[in-house]
Amino acid sequence: MSMRPGLGPKLFLVLVTTTIVIGNYQRHRERTHLREQLVNGHKITRNVTRLQEEIIANLPPLRIPRLRHHRVTDWDPYFENAEGQGINGSQNVALHLGATALLDCRVAMLSGKKVMWLRRNADWASLLTLGNTTHISDPRYSVSFQYPNNWRLAIAGVRREDRGLYVCQVNTHPPRMLVTNVTVLAPDIRIVDEARHELRDRYYKTGSGIELACVARPSCPDSRIPYPVWRKNGVTLPDHVNVYHINGSNEDLVTKLYIDQAKKTDSGEYSCSVSQFSTAAVHIHVLNGEKQAAVHHDQWNASRTNHEKLKNLYITIVSLVFLQTWMISSP
Ligand SMILES: *[C@@H]1O[C@H](CO)[C@@H](O)[C@H](O)[C@H]1NC(C)=O
Ligand SMILES: *[C@@H]1O[C@H](CO)[C@@H](O)[C@H](O)[C@H]1NC(C)=O
Ligand SMILES: *[C@@H]1O[C@H](CO)[C@@H](O)[C@H](O)[C@H]1NC(C)=O
Ligand SMILES: *[C@@H]1O[C@H](CO)[C@@H](O)[C@H](O)[C@H]1NC(C)=O
Ligand SMILES: *[C@@H]1O[C@H](CO)[C@@H](O)[C@H](O)[C@H]1NC(C)=O
Ligand SMILES: *[C@@H]1O[C@H](CO)[C@@H](O)[C@H](O)[C@H]1NC(C)=O
Repeated sequence: MSMRPGLGPKLFLVLVTTTIVIGNYQRHRERTHLREQLVNGHKITRNVTRLQEEIIANLPPLRIPRLRHHRVTDWDPYFENAEGQGINGSQNVALHLGATALLDCRVAMLSGKKVMWLRRNADWASLLTLGNTTHISDPRYSVSFQYPNNWRLAIAGVRREDRGLYVCQVNTHPPRMLVTNVTVLAPDIRIVDEARHELRDRYYKTGSGIELACVARPSCPDSRIPYPVWRKNGVTLPDHVNVYHINGSNEDLVTKLYIDQAKKTDSGEYSCSVSQFSTAAVHIHVLNGEKQAAVHHDQWNASRTNHEKLKNLYITIVSLVFLQTWMISSP
């Protein structure tokens, strides 16, 4: 005797539903019980969001029976690597400053779901792309779909601030996420004086000699960087300014700048850079009055002087207090 067409699948569906309901009856009871407990505990706060979060966090995972021919989990989207192997969790990408970042997100079994890229941080998340469209206004970001399943995010001209977490997310419930941790390899660059103190501002008397060094260190031991380049107020240095390249300790590259007899016109912003994005700068002030030069000196010495003054003031106060105590207690 043959069954009516369509009855087979229906019977199967009923069986599956019954299995899920029976299998999760205990879970349903626990959920009701948990809710009662939490409601009692939250009568004062009455915060529904937190309540719901706690119910979800405290529940045992949803049990889905493994059916012989139809493993439900197999229908969900999942991430894979270039070799077509399933991956989960996170991946790390290290990029050089100024390079173009290509972050891959290969999703198998997408079946109509959407893929989005988010930028995430401890306290915020922002949508970068959704499907084929880019949502962020920064033109450096774009999504380009690579056949057959790679939703690749490209970031042109990588900057220091581009480092952090990028999440490729599929809008399933709950969402599937692939987290990419982007680190930016940027050379460390500093401008220092003769005593190797880092500088921001520096004061000189007219006629004195100026000597500054720009020290650049590669972001990782094997990477090569060019010698730093000095500029004054954003343009090429004047002819009377001399520049020498030297090899510093370790992997450091040093470019020194000399001015024999400083003139007032030598004042300005001197910048030193290894690439478009890796720059340090110092403000040079050449003053002709001896008095001003004595007052200003440079930042580092100034702070030391202030420290010295405070110490002297402290000693004076302590002495005064001591003297007073001695005078009162003496007959
Ligand atoms: C309720 O709880 C959520 C999650 O902990 C929190 O973000 C929200 O600020 C709370 N709201 C109030 C009104 O306390
Ligand atoms: C996730 O990765 C772990 C090990 O890295 C593996 O044991 C587990 O099966 C993976 N899960 C899925 C759903 O691929
Ligand atoms: C948009 O995405 C689909 C895949 O869902 C792809 O086949 C199509 O080529 C994409 N369109 C463009 C303009 O990139
Ligand atoms: C990302 O990678 C960097 C460098 O490897 C590491 O210091 C940082 O902790 C990582 N961030 C996260 C959230 O894993
Ligand atoms: C610095 O070192 C490199 C190789 O390590 C060498 O080719 C170059 O001539 C050196 N430059 C100076 C100024 O010593
Ligand atoms: C800063 O002070 C030290 C000693 O107090 C002195 O040797 C040095 O020349 C000063 N630096 C400048 C730039 O005047």
